[in-house]
Amino acid sequence: MSAPAEASLADLRTAYDENGWCAYPYRFADDSVRLLRDRVAAISRQRRPEVVHEAGNDTVRAIHGCHAFDELCSALVRHPRLVSLAEALTGKPVYVYQFKVNLKQAREGAAWPWHQDFAFWSEEDGMRRPDAVNIALSLDDVHDDNGPLVVIPGSHGLGLLDLPAEDSGEKSDWRQHVSADLAYTVSEERARALARQRGEDKIKGAAGSVHAFHPSIVHSSSNNLSDDRRALLLVTYNAVDNAPTRPTRPEFLVARDATPVTPLADERLTLEPR
Ligand code: SIN
Ligand code: MN
Repeated sequence: MSAPAEASLADLRTAYDENGWCAYPYRFADDSVRLLRDRVAAISRQRRPEVVHEAGNDTVRAIHGCHAFDELCSALVRHPRLVSLAEALTGKPVYVYQFKVNLKQAREGAAWPWHQDFAFWSEEDGMRRPDAVNIALSLDDVHDDNGPLVVIPGSHGLGLLDLPAEDSGEKSDWRQHVSADLAYTVSEERARALARQRGEDKIKGAAGSVHAFHPSIVHSSSNNLSDDRRALLLVTYNAVDNAPTRPTRPEFLVARDATPVTPLADERLTLEPR
């Protein structure tokens, strides 16, 4: 299948610039999703710092940096269609800044409070501009009840909200960047007021769906109270000229190598129209 025409990437860019997120009109085929799910399951069983558990129990909450040690994840981040989407949305050559899978296990997956990703990347890593994009690939069907990502459209244009006025220079513990107790949040009150003005969009869809969202968009997701897992694989591509100058967090949260990603097709990872 041919890549989406330039015109449709331009349309996606228009929607992304306006709303801070967009839905890609193609999804990964079932076989590709199955392979990725199997790989995620195998990594989740490993005891390594990249594998993070929910507070107080052994439930795997997320796995990080897998593109650096797993060849299928490495192939995924080089997928030509993902790279061209990231380049179209940032308008720049990109490298992989971060890779994670948030697993949101059935009945046990905990919430992500309202926040902006760029707060973490600028305050902790020294990223200068939000010239990055999150590409989200759903590994499970995502519906109203299994904790979909909720975004406030247009909120990416508001800058960083609710940060302390003074930068103390102190770094927070990185575990507070991957837990339900986040270091940088947008207050519930502020998010509710924004949502009243601008509405809320839920990022839902069949397994294999692909969405993109902006580093500054205000977003959250609730506890998963359903019987269905909601695994969301997130690749953050950053513009090569926006690589942070003083990262100190572990490399599985902040890649140090800002070499532009080289697109490479892999026959195991195929897309089809949604
Ligand atoms: C989630 O997995 O629901 C949260 C993702 C994010 O905050 O980037
Ligand atoms: Mn986030």
